[in-house]
Amino acid sequence: MTIDKQLPSTRTTELDSICLKAEVIPVLAIQRVEDAVPLAKALVEGGIMVLEITLRTDCALEAIRRIKEALPHVSIGVGTVLTPAQYRLAEQVGADFVVTPGTTEALYRYGVESPVPMLPGVATVSELMVGWQYGYRRFKFFPAEASGGVKALKAFAGPIAEARFCPTGGINLDNADDYLALNNVMCVGGSWLTPKSLVDAGDWNAIRRLAREVADRFHH
Ligand code: 3PG
Repeated sequence: MTIDKQLPSTRTTELDSICLKAEVIPVLAIQRVEDAVPLAKALVEGGIMVLEITLRTDCALEAIRRIKEALPHVSIGVGTVLTPAQYRLAEQVGADFVVTPGTTEALYRYGVESPVPMLPGVATVSELMVGWQYGYRRFKFFPAEASGGVKALKAFAGPIAEARFCPTGGINLDNADDYLALNNVMCVGGSWLTPKSLVDAGDWNAIRRLAREVADRFHH
């Protein structure tokens, strides 16, 4: 096992440039494949350029394919990747990056070799230390609120000052500012940009307005 292997520095640069485009990344679990393109379009028209689409639903891969084709300039993170096999599927549908809720040694190893960068999910210093040894410097902090939130991230900055995070899990309009104010937070993610009631109702205008509000408030 090549524990000390460093990721090419371009990998961190790639993740940074994706996250810089989006202080807030919507986390989507698309239930109906026909919602994929109108939902993504509403978010993009509202000013959101990076989306995380989770593999939690049966139509997720087809939804990603359709969005990539309709909106090729949008950066797509494929989320809820639990295994190297799912990582490979994410590569095949054209993921710009992969997001995992937690990590395994197998995922860390796969990610080091993959052409698609990974934002590995960590909740503790120990998990962070394992990722660090593999060369990872950018992480998802999940589930953020349940794992100590802002206080935990401030504490992580002591021993591992170079690590940067995209916290998700329990983040919303009320607390996003507290996270984004931290030096080790590059962006935040969450499902709050796409409330289920609006998606189920196909109310793309309301989603566009919400995206616009979020983009105006948080994006550079
Ligand atoms: C994720 O996978 O990042 C979370 O499901 C998003 O968490 P939230 O629903 O609390 O925003």
